[in-house]
Amino acid sequence: MDRIYYFSGTGNCLMIARNLADGLGGAELVRITENTEIPAEVPEGRTVLVFPIYCGNAPVIVRELAEKLPLNADSRVYSIAVHGGHAVIGNPQIASILNRRGVKHYKLYEIETVHNGAFIAPLPDDTEIRAKLDASYKAAREIGEEIATDPAEPLPMADGIIEKAASNPMAQKVVFSFDPAKGYVDFFTEDNCSECGICVKVCPMGNITLENGGPVWHDKCQLCLACLQYCPNQNIQYVHNHVPDHTSVGKKRYHNPDVNIKELIN
Ligand SMILES: Cc1cc2nc3c(=O)[nH]c(=O)nc-3n(C[C@H](O)[C@H](O)[C@H](O)COP(=O)(O)O)c2cc1C
Ligand code: SF4
Ligand code: SF4
Repeated sequence: MDRIYYFSGTGNCLMIARNLADGLGGAELVRITENTEIPAEVPEGRTVLVFPIYCGNAPVIVRELAEKLPLNADSRVYSIAVHGGHAVIGNPQIASILNRRGVKHYKLYEIETVHNGAFIAPLPDDTEIRAKLDASYKAAREIGEEIATDPAEPLPMADGIIEKAASNPMAQKVVFSFDPAKGYVDFFTEDNCSECGICVKVCPMGNITLENGGPVWHDKCQLCLACLQYCPNQNIQYVHNHVPDHTSVGKKRYHNPDVNIKELIN
């Protein structure tokens, strides 16, 4: 059975994973969280990684999973970078890990969808959101159908300059080890927490505790923004990369309208 590992904060990647599974003709869906189980054996089926792009990067936990999953030279691995306009180095980061691990059969895809970081650019209106989501689901089904044919066996690393740089040890140190969670997180709260606990439950990393009537963030944040986007009181705010204008204050919240919050709670 093929296995799709997906990381998702606000539901886009969950829906992309579902549509990929449809295109593939069925697959096991595994959510990536801090507790994702690592199989003991190299799987016989294909391994598909579905993840959002954060500040141009693949989430740290997805890169860690790509390091840990049991894979060998015969494994067939597919990496799907889901983004709001610019996937930048997310896929090359995964390719770099797969290369280093000697995986020979893999292919990288990108799917554009709604940008859930509503602090730099305003969210599109509901009609545009619907159109973007539907287009991304269609793209996912088509990619699933293509993956089902095991395209271009063996799947070589793409030939582009970024992918080549991804294999360069110096570039890996300088660029590819970049951890967005270290420099970009700047959460703060308003004074209207109802202690509902939603931010705690929706965090895929178990990174939030409620203390003294409000959320406290610890050190496992991936930048998914689920806590901010799902807070019913808009109590959670965010400044992006310390640029004062790039803030969630006064901006509309987003989460994927086709996903029930219960599906994102472990
Ligand atoms: C903190 C943050 C940074 C982001 N950076 C990028 C980016 O650099 N390029 C891009 O195209 N999309 C970016 N996005 C958008 C997400 O990759 C995209 O909306 C994705 O579909 C979210 O998936 P999810 O709903 O499964 O969590 C960013 C989102 C967040 C929250
Ligand atoms: S989701 Fe919002 S209101 Fe609920 S506990 Fe978290 S910060 Fe407080
Ligand atoms: S603390 Fe918030 S942004 Fe960070 S991983 Fe948890 S839900 Fe996502």
